[in-house]
Amino acid sequence: MAIVRIPADEAVISDAGAVTAFLADHHIDYEHWTPDHPVGAEATPEMVLAAYAREIEPLMARGGYRTADVIDVRPETPNLEAMLAKFSREHWHDEDEVRFIIEGRGLFHVHPQEGPVFAIEVEAGDLIRVPKGTHHWFDLCADRRIRAIRLFQDQSGWTPHYTDTGIDQAFQPVCFGPSYLSARSVHQA
Ligand SMILES: [Fe+2]
Repeated sequence: MAIVRIPADEAVISDAGAVTAFLADHHIDYEHWTPDHPVGAEATPEMVLAAYAREIEPLMARGGYRTADVIDVRPETPNLEAMLAKFSREHWHDEDEVRFIIEGRGLFHVHPQEGPVFAIEVEAGDLIRVPKGTHHWFDLCADRRIRAIRLFQDQSGWTPHYTDTGIDQAFQPVCFGPSYLSARSVHQA
């Protein structure tokens, strides 16, 4: 399940219903899916898309998304740092950013028009739709691993437009991961 953090408020939201409600307030759709058929590490993009066809096809019809693909990023991916640098600065797109995480983790920061910046840490099973025009940036977690389905209306609309505010520099791209939640539970017990 995704975790939301609001650094300015020193707040963490980890309850699924509360995460969904908080993101809905910011016009971000969030769902957690379980695949028809779990996909292994060796699964091809076609196998991944087939496993989630039942969920993806209605979502594509509803959002007007015309294409789907699978990105697969690992620490050994060539030019990884250059690729990540394109998305770790505050930007927006002319179309929605829709991601369903198959494996690994990632960290979106969202800068709403009103209210403080918040971070959404996503993991396997998380579907997120960040509407077009939303100011945001994205980082991988320390393990540099993510595999995700991407949906597009028109891939050319997904070119990042940079704000060049530099606000992204004020936020550490640090993921908490499941260990944070278990440590917190112990602390609260
Ligand atoms: Fe983006």
